Amino acid sequence: MVQLSGIAITGCGSAVPNVALGNDGMSRLVDTSDEWISTRTGIRQRRLADAQGSLRQLASDAARQALEMAAVQATDVDLIILATSTPDDLFGTASQIQAELGATRAAAFDLTAACSGFVFGLVTAAQFIRTGTYRTIVLIGADVLSRWTDWSDRRTCVLFGDGAGAIVMQSTSERDGLLGFELRSDGNQNNCLTLAFQPQPHHLVDDIAIGQGSFQPIAMNGQEVYRFAVKKVPEVIEKALFRAHLSVEQIDWLLLHQANQRILDAVAQRLGIPDEKVISNMAQYGNTSAASIPLALDEVVRSGRVQPGDVIAAAGFGAGLTWGAAIFRWR
Ligand code: ACO
Repeated sequence: MVQLSGIAITGCGSAVPNVALGNDGMSRLVDTSDEWISTRTGIRQRRLADAQGSLRQLASDAARQALEMAAVQATDVDLIILATSTPDDLFGTASQIQAELGATRAAAFDLTAACSGFVFGLVTAAQFIRTGTYRTIVLIGADVLSRWTDWSDRRTCVLFGDGAGAIVMQSTSERDGLLGFELRSDGNQNNCLTLAFQPQPHHLVDDIAIGQGSFQPIAMNGQEVYRFAVKKVPEVIEKALFRAHLSVEQIDWLLLHQANQRILDAVAQRLGIPDEKVISNMAQYGNTSAASIPLALDEVVRSGRVQPGDVIAAAGFGAGLTWGAAIFRWR
């Protein structure tokens, strides 16, 4: 009989660019104010990568910290998954990180599920561990959305920031740390939030034309995405809790994708989770897409708020549309 392995999350790390742009700075760029941004979103500043800043560097720094906390050598890593929508190279950036870390044995690939990328990556990584295929996986959520933000669109540009977070996942014969999950997608609502390739016909020879072009900046129907998140995120968390045989009261922490404080508050309220259990750091970083969950996790672990054995309900949501929840134990 196949012996299924348990999953232990044994390390975390994060990295953000040095440059911070506050809401007052944003109001010099577009017609907005600190008052509007902070009351409507909870965001006070965001970190932005400069022209030399690479996704590879942020992601590698976060991964190195996570490996150090887990006391794992890079050469012992079997797999690196990079959840991102903003690769340095469309062919994938994970291999560059593998080289940067010196993780010579590891296979590496990118995974794209926008702001749900970290949760989708966690569940993907878990399958390799469960089946006994791999023992040690580094999962990174990293995005440099500033590259693709329309800096003249006040409805979106105030929201996003750059950053990276990472965890180390290892197989264990002791208690399983991934308690339940649920992943969902709805491509019918894709047009609510896009960073789309726009091809123009380019004639080659005879009647053969191919499409060449570039990606268009982020476009979002904020109200639709807001409504979607507030309705679907509680549902998916409840489903994951059901699979974990846990009740809402047994969650120590609610760790949502850091998109908007009002979304966090509304989801927590719907689930009956008190404010003190809700992890939030978007005031400092804005919406860092796939990075937001591991970035916030790293902060609360390093500050000692989250303790070994704590049960965390994490949920991502965003473009695709995609959404998903994972209930896991820290260490
Ligand atoms: N400053 C000042 N005014 C603004 C700004 C701004 N930055 N942005 C919009 N406004 C104005 C609008 O023009 C509008 O004015 P009008 O009534 O005269 O037309 C008014 O404020 C209200 O706009 P709404 O869009 O209704 O504002 P809302 O309260 O919905 O907040 C927000 C907008 C913050 C975008 C919200 O809808 C939201 O958070 N949506 C969810 C976004 C999200 O969760 N994304 C997650 C996924 S991200 C990913 O996957 C990459």
